[in-house]
Order: sequence, then C-alpha cells, then structure tokens
Amino acid sequence: MLSKKSAAIHSSPVRELLKFSKEPGFISLAGGIPATDMIDVEGIDSVLQQLLAEDHRDVFQYSVTEGEWPLRQSIANWTQNVGLPLDPQQILITNGSQQGIDLLNRVFLEKDDVVLVERPTYLAALQLLDYTEAVIEELAYQGDQIDLGALETRLAAGGVKMLYLIPTFANPTGRIIENEQRIEIVKLAHRYQVVIVEDDPYGHLAFTEQCRETFFSLAQQLYGVDHNVCYMSSFSKIFSPGLRLGWLALPEKFLMAVTVAKQALDLHTSTLNQHIAARYIASGRIDQRIALLKETYRQRRDGLIESLQRHLGDAITFNRPEGGMFLWCHLKEGMDASRLLKACIEEKVVFVPGDVFFAENPEKNALRLSYSMLTQQTADEAAVRIARALQTLSS
Ligand SMILES: Cc1ncc(COP(=O)(O)O)c(C=O)c1O
Repeated sequence: MLSKKSAAIHSSPVRELLKFSKEPGFISLAGGIPATDMIDVEGIDSVLQQLLAEDHRDVFQYSVTEGEWPLRQSIANWTQNVGLPLDPQQILITNGSQQGIDLLNRVFLEKDDVVLVERPTYLAALQLLDYTEAVIEELAYQGDQIDLGALETRLAAGGVKMLYLIPTFANPTGRIIENEQRIEIVKLAHRYQVVIVEDDPYGHLAFTEQCRETFFSLAQQLYGVDHNVCYMSSFSKIFSPGLRLGWLALPEKFLMAVTVAKQALDLHTSTLNQHIAARYIASGRIDQRIALLKETYRQRRDGLIESLQRHLGDAITFNRPEGGMFLWCHLKEGMDASRLLKACIEEKVVFVPGDVFFAENPEKNALRLSYSMLTQQTADEAAVRIARALQTLSS
C-alpha cells in the first residue's frame, strides 16, 4: 500500500539509537540532544505561571501562520544583540528547524534539481531531501574548507538550485565555514541564482569570543533585500527541544510562498509554546542560560577528549570543536564504526556511526560522539567501555 518513496525511506538510525539513552545502565553519546539537566525548568515554570495569571484565553486559540507577533519581535530584538539584525516581519515561526528545512524543500525544489550539501551533513536533512525528487550532491573540499573553485565549476555547469549548509559548529563535524569563504559563497550563489539554506541551530553555543557573520547578514550587506539566503535557527539546543520551536528569516520575496506552504502543512505552530518562548526571551533568562550552556558544554567537550586520550590513545582521532555538541572521530583506516557499535551495545555504550551522514561514498571508520549529556564520570566510563569493545574486535 505504501508509496514507493515511503517504502524506500528508513527510520533514522540516530532516532533508533535514542531508545538506548532510556535503558538502565547505558551511556549514550548518540543523541544530538541538549543536556536534560540543563533545561531551565524553573525559568519555564515562572513564565508559564505569569502567563496563566493574566487573561490568557488567546494562548489556547488558533494563531496566524507567520507566528505570534510577540515571539517574532522578541527574536528580532534578541538576534540584534547577537549580530543578526532582523525585521520581525521577515521571521516565520516553525515547529523546530526541521520544519524549516521541509518548508524550503517544498517551496524551492522540483524534480531533478540539484541540492549541494556538505560532506558529511545532517542526517535528517538528507532524509527530508529523500522525500523530494531532487538530486543530492556533495561539495568538494580542500582540507576542511569547501573548494570554491570546484563549487564555481559545478554552479556554472547548471542544474543546481540549492546549497544546504550548516556553517557554524556543524552536525556531525563541529566544523566552521570561515568568514572569507562565507562571503565568496554568498557571491557565487548570487551570481548563479542559487538559494542558500543556512541551518544554524548551534551558532549560539560558541566556546570562544570569535564571531562569524551569518550568510544571511552578509547577503543583506552585499545585496540589500534582493538576496537568496534563507536562514533558520532553533530553540531546541538553547531552550527546550520538546516545545518544538524554530524560526526562519527570509528575504521578503520568499515570505509569502513559505507562509502558504506552512499554512497548508499545519496552519501554525503551538500558540501557547510561542508565548512561553516570547516571555522567556524578553525576561533575559535566555542569555544567562546560553552562557551556562556554553561553559558546561566546553567542560564536557574537554572531559570527553581527556577520557578518549586516556583510554583509547591513538586508536581514535578527532577534532576539537569550538562550539556545539559533537566530536567527529575516526578509527584507524580499514576499521568499521558500525561493527564497533555492535560491540559497544554489548558494553552498554552507544554512538552514531559516521557513514549515515554521507550522501555519497561514506567513511566507514568515522563516528560521531555527542558530549552534551556527559559528566566527567560518564565520559570516562564511556571511553573505558569503547576501548573494551575495540579490544573484542581485534582479538
Ligand atoms: C543541523 C540541524 N538542523 C536541524 C535540526 C532540527 O532541530 P529542531 O527541529 O529540533 O529545531 C537539528 C537537530 O539536531 C540539527 O542538528
């Protein structure tokens, strides 16, 4: 009964692995999820109590598709302070940034359009692209930066409609696209009339002071309102993923089409949840919470790195991300991270094998380790268990 497409698309291995995080005794380095102990439940409770103490009938009513005005305004005020000037009219509230990706795919992509993605990239974006009839191609790299010459050649050859990029602390690599590259990519996309989808759920979680400009603000500076960058971010990693709140910032020329797509899809995002977030941002607690998250995740990153070095030595190599939640790791050439995962499940520790994040030619020896949930003690125990599992593979 299923359509060919639905029958061909499988459940995300990351979501499958999430079940282990609930099983007693398991240590999970699999989920790209914020630390549960870091969700500001008191802050959320306090704004909710304020809301309920007032005349709050409207927060249980249907809302407009674009999103509740107080939330759009709060986001615009807040992003202004973090270097992203936005007009609230440019903002569309979504059910998490996952919905932002879906809406943009629906609005821009037709059969055989080419979408260029990073190598590797966010698994659930690949999964959504599989529902379109577009063709996914990976960008070429020089070291860990995009090969701009190869990009221009590819754009000049035609057929490319969209560039899907996670420029800051990417999932799964933690990689950053540097400012000079951002400017060149914006110019290339403009010259060849390609849409840039800028997915930025981790940019707020920087461990250093170094600031990168968004593609969106660079494009605004270069081309005024007539640019082709669609920016999206999320409250999932900095506030609460369960409230399912994200937002898109769009050039005016795309606003209507994307709003109509959301109208058709789900009418609007939860009114109550939008008001909770609007008040939370306006209260200023979000900045305090982000400061705490950055410090905690920096410590957790360092803790995991130390434990891996202590217990795995040169059996594993990895980057040192300047923000976000992930270590992108490699086992020795010829090793298979999926086989290691099987052995690790016996040891009650899980991670995501890296091959799932590739659109083409997967690296079998890659793996993604998330440190957001780990204390020093669990990081150490996880490394001990992974080392034991590695030993069973080689014995
Ligand atoms: C790169 C990226 N984009 C989008 C999302 C979706 O996030 P949400 O829908 O919770 O905002 C995630 C979640 O892990 C992500 O890593």
